[in-house]
Amino acid sequence: MSRAPLRRVFPKNEEYSNLAPLTEKIAVAAKFPKGVPCVAKRALALRVVQEGHQPEPRENRLNDLSGAEWLFWTSTIFETFYPADATHKLRKQHGAMKPPEVMAEIIRFFTKQGEEVLDPFAGVGGTLLGAALAGRRALGFEINPQWVDVYNRIQREFAVVDGRIVRLGEIASDEGPRKDAAPLNAPMLVGDCMHLMATLPDQSVDAIVADPPYGCNHGATGFKNETNFAMNSSTDPRDFSNAADLPAFLERMESLGCQAWRVLKPGRYLVLMVGDRYMRGEFVPLGVMVADTLRGVGFQFKGLRIWWNKATQRPLRPYAVKTCFVPNIVHQNILVLRRPDST
Ligand SMILES: C[S@@+](CC[C@H](N)C(=O)[O-])C[C@H]1O[C@@H](n2cnc3c(N)ncnc32)[C@H](O)[C@@H]1O
Repeated sequence: MSRAPLRRVFPKNEEYSNLAPLTEKIAVAAKFPKGVPCVAKRALALRVVQEGHQPEPRENRLNDLSGAEWLFWTSTIFETFYPADATHKLRKQHGAMKPPEVMAEIIRFFTKQGEEVLDPFAGVGGTLLGAALAGRRALGFEINPQWVDVYNRIQREFAVVDGRIVRLGEIASDEGPRKDAAPLNAPMLVGDCMHLMATLPDQSVDAIVADPPYGCNHGATGFKNETNFAMNSSTDPRDFSNAADLPAFLERMESLGCQAWRVLKPGRYLVLMVGDRYMRGEFVPLGVMVADTLRGVGFQFKGLRIWWNKATQRPLRPYAVKTCFVPNIVHQNILVLRRPDST
């Protein structure tokens, strides 16, 4: 390429001397091969500025966040420290419940206002309460009636006011209940999620956000001794935590993935919280194993966020100190899986 004609069009360096950062960006975007004279890049940049080319504001196809909020949420480390909310005392009987605030953050990323979230492993309602905080509709399935009772009581006794879950008695005044109190009206149905999901129409759900059991052997001699919490499982054989072993658990997750894929709208997300395990002397990367199983069903594994809930961090336990490395697993994985657009 000859430099002479470009020099004739843009003879003065001062005209474009302040465009250096822009020219570099444009040069990269236009994939100029190495060796194209700098003046050519500057000429293009000046034309862009003079003709007033502005990038079109991009439509947000997934959520209601700004670009900056979206970017913030893509960090693979997710540290939270929420104070116990008003429903905590009731929910903590469960042992593996999630803070509604963290679920609300996930739901705000993967849905828009008014869309519908499904949680097939609803427990005492962390996801459903999070959906209420975020202004989304939600539906939950839970196999253990004890947990559905706890959630139903929360529904009767609490509401969302000013972005917080508050006890109804505390917000009533002499003039009666506050008009801006939003009821917790997401239903939670008792039953096996595999059966209940089969009753939902194809492509009817905007997002699935759930926290399934983390494999099997959640009892006092296994899971409790190894990781951060003990979940109070039912004895129902259909409960995923009662799978015979790890391969059987992954098989169930595969079946769940097939139903999830069917009921999700194309291009939308299945987000699962899954903790890793340490069993029989070895680390079990359960999160990645579950994600890989779901890839087999057709989901894209888009990534994960490593969630560290500082609020429930217990002191580190001295496993095999001075003998061999055993991790204190203080994180949970938030797995992000997407049903592809055109399938
Ligand atoms: C980790 S807990 C979810 C806790 C929930 N995120 C919360 O905040 O309360 C997993 C739940 O899945 C439920 N579960 C296990 N197998 C199930 C099945 N087949 N159908 C429906 N629920 C099931 C368990 O009873 C348990 O409450």
